[in-house]
Amino acid sequence: MLLSQNIIKDDNPDLRRVSVPVELPLSEEDRNTLLSMYEYLENGYDPEFVKKYKIRPGVGMAAPQIDVLKQMFAILAYDEKKEEHSYLVINPKITSTSEQLTFLKTGEGCLSVDKECKGYIHRAARLSARCHLLDPETLEVKETTLRLKGYIAIVFQHEYDHLFGRLFYDHINKENPFYIPYNSSPVVFKEEEDE
Ligand code: NI
Repeated sequence: MLLSQNIIKDDNPDLRRVSVPVELPLSEEDRNTLLSMYEYLENGYDPEFVKKYKIRPGVGMAAPQIDVLKQMFAILAYDEKKEEHSYLVINPKITSTSEQLTFLKTGEGCLSVDKECKGYIHRAARLSARCHLLDPETLEVKETTLRLKGYIAIVFQHEYDHLFGRLFYDHINKENPFYIPYNSSPVVFKEEEDE
């Protein structure tokens, strides 16, 4: 079971390295790594678990964050409409992105970054990605094209960046951290719309 001490921080140079593709068919070891990352995210939604094991909840985790330099990551997040998205992603390749950008008004966070980094990160509002997905129930691996937008597209790009040694704060404009380009608009969550 993964706990906070298994997650490496941004002072570790391994987080800046480029990960290698995962060999397919998926080995048992790689499968267990991916499942354990997913389990960590699931545990993060359980307040009692969080309190007991003092873990920091997250919506995504990439293998390099546990010092496994392979191209895989897990996402468990809720979109603008509170729909659940869970993806256990292997060897992703973003094949197209929209000109339209989007960002989180709160900025982004990362399980590997303890300091608060203020500023906006503008990412593609929509994307298509080829990848293999592991089904956590059946353990089947299937090749697919994901089409994602808004918040989930942001999470996907954040995790994808980890596979290339990039961290979210690399994208923050140094001169003007809260700069908003003309083609970017913030993610709006359902509860904000209702207000
Ligand atoms: Ni991260």
